[in-house]
Amino acid sequence: MHRFHYVGQNLHCESVDLATVAQLYGTPTYVYSLGTIADNYSRLAKSLAGLDAQICFAMKANSNLALLKHFANLGAGFDLVSGGEIRRVIAAGAEVKKSVFAGVGKTEAEIQLALESGVFSFHVESEPELARIDHVAGKLGVKASIAIRVNPDVDARTHAKITTGKSDNKFGIPLKYAPAAYDAAAKFKNIVVRGVQIHIGSQLTEIAPFVEAVEKIAPFAAELKAKHGITYFSIGGGIGIVYRDALASGQQGWWDAQPAETRPITPEAYGAALVPLLKPLGLKILLEPGRFMVGNAGVLLARVEYLKRGHGKNFLILDAGFNDLVRPAMYESYHEILPVYRDTTRRALKADIVGPICESGDCFAKDRQIQELGEGEYVAFMSAGAYGSTMASRYNSRALPAEVVVNGSIFELATVRENFEATIAAERVPGFLR
Ligand code: LLP
Repeated sequence: MHRFHYVGQNLHCESVDLATVAQLYGTPTYVYSLGTIADNYSRLAKSLAGLDAQICFAMKANSNLALLKHFANLGAGFDLVSGGEIRRVIAAGAEVKKSVFAGVGKTEAEIQLALESGVFSFHVESEPELARIDHVAGKLGVKASIAIRVNPDVDARTHAKITTGKSDNKFGIPLKYAPAAYDAAAKFKNIVVRGVQIHIGSQLTEIAPFVEAVEKIAPFAAELKAKHGITYFSIGGGIGIVYRDALASGQQGWWDAQPAETRPITPEAYGAALVPLLKPLGLKILLEPGRFMVGNAGVLLARVEYLKRGHGKNFLILDAGFNDLVRPAMYESYHEILPVYRDTTRRALKADIVGPICESGDCFAKDRQIQELGEGEYVAFMSAGAYGSTMASRYNSRALPAEVVVNGSIFELATVRENFEATIAAERVPGFLR
């Protein structure tokens, strides 16, 4: 469920007409529904009833300060992967103490910042990292809490670039070496062994791999509780969202109408499958959802620049490019593209929907059916709230997009569109070239 819908012919986010947002702030612009995020959060939290659970939003999916503050207000902690993300949480006026610090390449400076910020725990990916964390904690005279990321060697059956739980991925420590890694961790003076962590991949569309991973790790978690006194188990993120039928999936009744075998994961089904496996452990359970929380809560608005009628092919050329939304170019992913003003009396157009970047890969959709659209009209990329703005770049010297948050009938700019001066502020022409 989400809060994007047509009111008459006009696509709205909650009670706000998206054409108004586009006219006021220009395009390309990301628009986020705070109500949808709150719904997603509370549905997932409710589905875990009976567990002592903490949701740590994986902010790599969307790290806009307004959204971070919204998550903090909802009670979330964060799954952090860099010093920059730690600093963003602080800049948003939120606390780091419910958050975990993950990633395979934590630097000394990042570990220090995490400790000074009071991070809940480190999710450790290798034995050399344990030694580094121990060293930095010793230097600061504090104890560092850790969980080791264990690689359960489960196939998440998702895109190769976002599957992480197989033994040939760079992530985690294989289950068979994990007991030795824990014994090693327990010997460090400045480390407190506090938990165990897994994450098998992203955009999972089936529950079975989650169940398989939890079933594989649960006995080990119980052993760790007995031997090392761990208090939590983080089951990672990865819940998939609807891309193909994005608009329809926001409507009541759509989910129930889907055949059970192909129904996308609901938080209720996820909870129903996992709670019985997790509850007997008597551990605190952490979750690190990113996409599920924000994916269907955001759209990217773009303007039609040209309709180019080619030889046997039409191109709808937008002012957004793969620098603004890289997922289709990078993962061949599908995003539904809707006219912001819907006119069912118009002819249908079959076109490649493309951006202005000078690469053929700057294509959002091939031979897509959409109503005929002309210069100056707007389109919305659905399900663009996760890994959209956070993966945006300045390629072709384009400015980073603006971001707007909507709450009911209120909307406000959350990120001002980058201006050219800010883009080049860090660059210098060395004196010897002048
Ligand atoms: N926890 C860990 C340790 C992760 O590596 C990730 C995502 C998450 C949680 C959150 O996963 P989620 O709930 O969002 O699936 N850029 C790609 C997705 C990369 C995911 C990386 N790790 C995309 O656009 O599809």
